[in-house]
Amino acid sequence: MLRILFLGDIIGEPGRRAVTELLPKFKQDWAVDFVIANGENAAAGRGITPRITIDLLRAGVAVITTGDHVWDQKELAGFIDTEPRLLRPLNYPVGTPGAGSIVLETAKGKVGVINVQGRTFMLPALDNPFRQTLDEVEKLRLQTPVIFVDVHAETTSEKIALGRFLDGKVSAVAGTHTHVQTADEQIFPGGTAFICDAGMCGPIRSILGREIQPIIQRFYTSMPVNFPVAKGEVKIHGILVDVDESNGKAVQIRRVAEVYPGSVPEPEPAHDQSVPEQSVV
Ligand SMILES: [Fe+2]
Ligand SMILES: [Fe+2]
Repeated sequence: MLRILFLGDIIGEPGRRAVTELLPKFKQDWAVDFVIANGENAAAGRGITPRITIDLLRAGVAVITTGDHVWDQKELAGFIDTEPRLLRPLNYPVGTPGAGSIVLETAKGKVGVINVQGRTFMLPALDNPFRQTLDEVEKLRLQTPVIFVDVHAETTSEKIALGRFLDGKVSAVAGTHTHVQTADEQIFPGGTAFICDAGMCGPIRSILGREIQPIIQRFYTSMPVNFPVAKGEVKIHGILVDVDESNGKAVQIRRVAEVYPGSVPEPEPAHDQSVPEQSVV
């Protein structure tokens, strides 16, 4: 049996610190063979830098996936071709820097990872994720039946559809991007583990990892506002998937939701329903 730990979007320094510190313990306690993490928000919530990529790989992450924030840090486009363990969504046009899949050797055989982005309510508009992923799965299956797909998408329908579409062809399809862990983990009849969203690794008294008030102000005023990464207690969200490496079929999927003990809860302010200020940042 091969056990994969997948961690959802890592949010800024709080998320990075929690993942970096806890990963060795998780790997040992849970006998994890292979770690995949989504790093698209690892640099202060916006993209990922070469330095952070290296730090996460050194901490024990085998493959880093991304999503719509992949190019937020300008230096990444010039770096991504030098680090094949950092993926960008597969369905960018031909000629885009980087790659959307990788196959790595492990002590229990080869593991393939694919990162693909949805198209419903998502920017930029990319190529068809269903056709692109199917083509890529067929290529990867020449090397290994153990294939993990991170589908970075907004809607549950697009993610479930891709999961069902790939059932029996890959070991797992796990969603990212919405930062909220869903409770629909399951194994489809063909042996593909699935969850709509693995959740995030970041501050929990927040709105998707960002400070609460600026997000409310943005919704209330429709004006541009800075969204700092929140502080306080950090939770690590993800999934553990056990795969029969002989045929690539998943035999178990479990949700992970662990408080980072090194983080301190921020006191919840008194319930405040006053109208946000109209200040523009
Ligand atoms: Fe994200
Ligand atoms: Fe995203």
